[in-house]
Amino acid sequence: MNQSKWLSPLFLLLFIGAVSAQQKTLQSVAPFKIGCAINPNLLVKNKDYKAVVTNEFNSITSENVLKFGTVHPKKDVYDFTKGDILVDYALANHKRIHGHCLAWHQSVPKWLSEFEGDSAAWENLLKTHIQTVLTHYKGKMTSWDVVNEAFFDNGAYRQDSVNAPHRYITLWRNHLGRDYIARAFIYAHEADPDLLLFYNDYNQESNPAKLKAIIAMVTDFKKRGIPIHGLGLQMHININTKDEGIAEAIKQSAATGLLVHIAELDIKANPKKDTSTVYSDSLKMLQGRKFAFVVEQYKKLVPKQQQYGITTWNVGDADSWIVELRKIKDWPLLFDDKYQQKSCYNSFYEALKK
Ligand code: XIL
Repeated sequence: MNQSKWLSPLFLLLFIGAVSAQQKTLQSVAPFKIGCAINPNLLVKNKDYKAVVTNEFNSITSENVLKFGTVHPKKDVYDFTKGDILVDYALANHKRIHGHCLAWHQSVPKWLSEFEGDSAAWENLLKTHIQTVLTHYKGKMTSWDVVNEAFFDNGAYRQDSVNAPHRYITLWRNHLGRDYIARAFIYAHEADPDLLLFYNDYNQESNPAKLKAIIAMVTDFKKRGIPIHGLGLQMHININTKDEGIAEAIKQSAATGLLVHIAELDIKANPKKDTSTVYSDSLKMLQGRKFAFVVEQYKKLVPKQQQYGITTWNVGDADSWIVELRKIKDWPLLFDDKYQQKSCYNSFYEALKK
């Protein structure tokens, strides 16, 4: 037998196999952008983290480093060191960059919590912060979460009374009134009219009153010509989150006509904080189904031109804020502690591909 006659087709097949195996990535099958929140410290020091981000995702969000407390640690000091690492990496690797976030009730540095001034001084502070950050990154980023988490779960504006426990209060609302939200969008648009501007919040899928309040705000903004382009559904959910709630939040957000971003997706497998929980096959299956469900509903309910993409909140389970915050074992993301694809990765991948 003439072996060489068979060898070349065989090599060709192996080569094609190897290439297509390599191409099994989220970004290669998704019909919209697939993102992750990034921690630049991990990006710099962990090559496995960097490889997964580079291969799998084509959009990135700043997890913490562009929040107020990091970027603006003192009244007259801005520190873009960490943000620049992330932005330079993303630009060099052709990834879309979504900034997070300009006005929030958390990540408040000491100087800001102690700031004293009349409402004009507070207004100037908000405007200057927004415009300094956006001017620094002008031309480099695509979009921003301008205001984050301005509502309570019951649909009330956070916080209409100054007597609430400190961690719930938003300084912005208290010093500037509810309409600081609209003005934050105006200031952002003034600084960089090319940016897509998002309002971002959580629990819309489990709290109809909150969803309703956000939709009402957007409807009002559109009437008044406030420059808002998108809604972020954080989607920090768990294996038991009701499917109907997820579908309703996506559907109503899409009905505004704005871009819809599933902006911080993670799915808790240990929602009851049970210390004896192990990551069993049945939990993995439920979690995989929920990841697939989010993708399926997003594809079905959001018109193509409004599909801004799906972003997971960091990369590997060990990097997740869920574990850090709840101080309990959990496995909320698509990659394990060693950055290997988990079974929910496969469910997510197949749903994207379908
Ligand atoms: C979280 C980060 O992931 C944590 O590392 C940090 O300690 C606190 O903030 N909703 C948001 C995000 O909009 O900014 C939060 O990120 C998670 C919940």
